[in-house]
Amino acid sequence: MIRISLSRATITVVLLAASGALAVPQPLSNQKINRRIDALLRRMTLQEKIGQLVQYNGDAAGAATQAKEARVGSFLNATGAEKVNELQRAALQSRLKIPLIFGYDVIHGYRTIFPVPLGGAASFDPQLLEQSERVAAKEATAAGVKWTFAPMVDIAHDPRWGRIVEGAGEDPYLGSLIAAARVRGFQGTNLADPQSLVACAKHFVGYGAAEGGRDYNSAEIPDDTLREIYLPPFHSAVEAGVGTLMSAFEDLNDVPTSANYRTLTQILRKEWRFDGFVVSDYDSVHELVPHGIAADDAQAAQKALAAGVDMDMADGVYEKWLPQLVKSGKVPMSVLDEAVRRVLRIKFRAGLFEHPFYTDAARERRDILTPENRQVARRLAEESLVLLKNDNNLLPLSRSGKKIAVIGPLADDQANQLGSWVGRGQATDVITPLQGIESKLPQGSVLHARGVDISSLEAQEISGATGAAPAPTGATGAAAAARETGPATIEHAVQVAQQADVVVMFLGEPGGMSGEASSRAFLDLPGKQEQLLEAVAATGKPVVLVLESGRPLDIRWAAGHVPAIIQAWYPGTEAGNAIADVLFGYAAPSGRLPVSWPRSVGQIPVYYNHKNTGRPTSKDRWHTGYLDESKEPLFPFGYGLSYTTFAYSNLSVTPKVAPHGVLRVRFTVQNTGQAIATDVVQLYIHERVGPTSPRVRELKGIARVTLRPSESKTVVFDETAEMLATYDPRMKRMVPTGTYDVWIAPNAAAEGVAGSFQVVPK
Ligand code: BGC
Repeated sequence: MIRISLSRATITVVLLAASGALAVPQPLSNQKINRRIDALLRRMTLQEKIGQLVQYNGDAAGAATQAKEARVGSFLNATGAEKVNELQRAALQSRLKIPLIFGYDVIHGYRTIFPVPLGGAASFDPQLLEQSERVAAKEATAAGVKWTFAPMVDIAHDPRWGRIVEGAGEDPYLGSLIAAARVRGFQGTNLADPQSLVACAKHFVGYGAAEGGRDYNSAEIPDDTLREIYLPPFHSAVEAGVGTLMSAFEDLNDVPTSANYRTLTQILRKEWRFDGFVVSDYDSVHELVPHGIAADDAQAAQKALAAGVDMDMADGVYEKWLPQLVKSGKVPMSVLDEAVRRVLRIKFRAGLFEHPFYTDAARERRDILTPENRQVARRLAEESLVLLKNDNNLLPLSRSGKKIAVIGPLADDQANQLGSWVGRGQATDVITPLQGIESKLPQGSVLHARGVDISSLEAQEISGATGAAPAPTGATGAAAAARETGPATIEHAVQVAQQADVVVMFLGEPGGMSGEASSRAFLDLPGKQEQLLEAVAATGKPVVLVLESGRPLDIRWAAGHVPAIIQAWYPGTEAGNAIADVLFGYAAPSGRLPVSWPRSVGQIPVYYNHKNTGRPTSKDRWHTGYLDESKEPLFPFGYGLSYTTFAYSNLSVTPKVAPHGVLRVRFTVQNTGQAIATDVVQLYIHERVGPTSPRVRELKGIARVTLRPSESKTVVFDETAEMLATYDPRMKRMVPTGTYDVWIAPNAAAEGVAGSFQVVPK
């Protein structure tokens, strides 16, 4: 029997065996930390205090001087043990010897690159995500990074928004589980451990609701939606002990998030009791000027600090203007001190005062890109693959006797397997899909053609103004060209397809097409890929389409004409091995969609946990839909096929529960097919009548269950009725009494097995 306590999932942190003895300092008590901060604050000059609130690019010339003069509290984008230690030594030459904290975007791995976060979320496997972040933390800290600007926990309903790739998708429950798991993975149990990385939940808050899916655009979010959809993953990160948060770029309900007292202070500090610090997003303090809520940078600094932004990323506005703002009394010394206190608190917790040098070149060489790290990346990549379609069980493919044509611009492309925000990932480390497939088959049975090129299609470079790591270059184009003898034309690809028994196509977006500043108005396959697909399909050969993208794409034609489709996101360093494992049935696919997959752009936003409305049914035109398109997504949230089938039965639910009682949902899941495989069972609830209009379904439990053919297991979800809490029209949090539906279902749109229960007054 599998017992899952949802209120506070107890997950064992898998600590990877340290390959060398690293002394793990004991964490300091809060009391001791406060005393040491008090003592420091008494000695700090105004300039030294302000220095702690300033973050600059560690790559810039003059960084060491800034550190020596105590004009900076943190650097971003300085990586590598030697470089970081050199800057740290400079900081320790300053009068008070306050150490620096080094921040970097370790978004889905440092050097060993995991699937992009949206792909990772498709695993529905918080435990494995936690383990992957342990690996990322171990690698990043070995390279001197002590603070990652992750996890990104923004809920997103709009795949036009390029940054949907960086989060966990549309659901607050899944998003909260994953937020906490990633924080635990990065931070471990003791921030002072040399292998622990301070996490940063971002972007606080509502950034994913950018109107029109246009990056940096304003968001209008009603209060109850903010509380029920957008805030929960942040709250979950705070409860998991996240050290820092990042404010966002966007204007939220008329107040930019980097000057938003209500979110940064009332909710975060007063309600949630968060005692770490908040960093602005890149230049977002200065951007209060174009937002129109500050006349100039001086006023921007004043408003940001007063709202609760402690550290100013990159724009230099705090350094320049805080001295006179404090001297003139416009910024009270007590406000400045509080921000400094928060930054110092995290530095103490991170052990930086005791152990400012937590790595060296030897550790860096030893801990990065190890076979064990790659193994975790391979597992997560495999679990992230979502089988969207598999007519007549075309998959898994036979391992012998067949000729396979591997076609498409992404088939043998190393760099684009990594996606956006690739840390210090290297294209040359990547196993391409073609390499993975070849490794499974006898020599001579694999043919290859690119068909078309997409390298020129990236709207944006991954590098640039934000100082992110440069897009990995290297062997990509060269390797592909060397391996493919024919030209990259559709005609050649068709000829190659004709010589094969089955075709596997790798199409999608170049990695830099999603991520920051990568909004799209159209979600079709970019370039000439759709033509390539249609031409190859016209050969009549069975086609497996493997899609690589950071967002759902418009694949209506493919869904109607191609027998098998896998959504692979960007799988990372181990892409080819993971994909080949699934294609040939060494592993059954177990990924599920963390976002609803629209049929067309016109349906956006489409998400499963919407309100019922007064006219929900589609018997005639007078309902909540379109004249020219279904209102249902192409694939619902939670959807994903396997190489077997599963059946649910014997559902039993506690019939009556008090608002503070425990609800038990128990059922049997059986593998009714031929392959050993893992199911992701999903528990949904629905409140029939509420004080505010309820959502049609809400996810409240997930479990991955591995079953041999015919095997069945009993699963028990134990959950406090607190999970049903909602807000009444006066924004009072409450658990409404009344009748609730409950489903155990394979996705948000499937019936599965259904039951009901009642919440009764105590
Ligand atoms: C992004 C953040 C990122 C920061 C530092 C910004 O442009 O919005 O997510 O952490 O740059 O690289």
